[in-house]
Amino acid sequence: MHIRPVKSLRGEVRIPGDKSISHRSIMFGALSEGITEVTHFLRGADCLSTIDCFRRLGIDIEDTTDRILIHGKGLHGLHAPESVLDTGNSGTTTRLIAGILAGQPFTSTLTGDASIQKRPMERIMSPLMEMGADITSLNGNGCAPLRINGGRLKGIHYHSPVASAQVKSCVLLAGLYADSTVTVTEPALSRNHTELMLASFGAEVTSRETTVSIQPHPRLMGQKTEVPGDISSAAYFIAAGLLVPHSEILIHNTGINPTRDGILRAAKAMGADIRQLNIREVSGEPVCDLLVTSSALTGTIIEGSLIPALIDEIPVLAVMAAFAKGTTIIRDAAELKVKESDRIETIVTSLKAMGADITATPDGMIIHGGRQLHQAEIDARGDHRIAMASAIAGLCAQGGMILPDTGCIAVSYPDFLKDLEDLCVRDS
Ligand code: S3P
Repeated sequence: MHIRPVKSLRGEVRIPGDKSISHRSIMFGALSEGITEVTHFLRGADCLSTIDCFRRLGIDIEDTTDRILIHGKGLHGLHAPESVLDTGNSGTTTRLIAGILAGQPFTSTLTGDASIQKRPMERIMSPLMEMGADITSLNGNGCAPLRINGGRLKGIHYHSPVASAQVKSCVLLAGLYADSTVTVTEPALSRNHTELMLASFGAEVTSRETTVSIQPHPRLMGQKTEVPGDISSAAYFIAAGLLVPHSEILIHNTGINPTRDGILRAAKAMGADIRQLNIREVSGEPVCDLLVTSSALTGTIIEGSLIPALIDEIPVLAVMAAFAKGTTIIRDAAELKVKESDRIETIVTSLKAMGADITATPDGMIIHGGRQLHQAEIDARGDHRIAMASAIAGLCAQGGMILPDTGCIAVSYPDFLKDLEDLCVRDS
């Protein structure tokens, strides 16, 4: 795939549903009584993996063109799967489902693709084992495949060493099956979709600062839910609209939950002109339309508690920083190393290949922006966010960008390249 440079970007885009919320809608719908109806569900490969796993656990899930219908069977309605549960490339599916499976009266095995089989699962095995779960990494390396002998669980107060919504959510979901309250405290607040959505399905969840508690054995009831647009997908258009001169893009229906809106805060610190229009609520989540206008960006520091609120946007923020004037420092982001790829390495390698002045650090990177970037062939290493961030860099690089692997983009945004092309204004 050759991404060609553009003159400007103009128009409107409707981004797909939020990946995190789409996963949770299937999981919580499955554990509820009655039907859960989900609109604007993200049909990306990751969320389809979640659907597949719950079908294997005995849940009837209908996918009509405009909605997903989940015929929930309540907290105790899952059946033992007849085969291994394959979570594909999805860390969220793997870690959240593990918490649910730990509380079931049957044994199951979870595995995923080559990337999933390298990602750390001790971070969920350790709290689940503290709750009394019997869970084994079959290759003895702390990664999937995992065998989970579900059973009785006890309440704990878990102090997570990482600000991770996947870890927090895994423990909270296991907490649905525990014998007493389960509490999680994290070092910084990670995305809180599990807390908001589980409460709307009927769970008793209380949150205060970075601590959240859940009461066991609630009666969850099916809901009608609309998934807001994914700010992590909007991020590519935000960056493109800011970087490409003479651009103006209206991004409809973007989730702006404060635990996810770090990209907006970082971009504004860099001098971005982004206006939030028509702020409203969709299924308990704040949403708006974003009007993005080309801006001259300057370097910034991205660190501390801001990191969990923009963790998935760091690849595209690094692209913005490479075109900004001055230095950008990203730190406290060692979590990047355990994403779909080692993102410190993949970002630095890709931007260096294009001529950027960028250096990896143990927990982030330092980017001296402002160099003219040139064409390169970028190996996204099967990581959807690296592929999409590289495509945005290609719009502004001399000669564009060669991206041999665009298949991985389907993990979170199957129509990304088409939606991007629709906005492009080129010399005819
Ligand atoms: C997610 C949490 C984040 C994020 C991932 C989705 C979620 O991962 O990177 O894309 O839906 O809970 P961590 O919890 O590992 O930070």
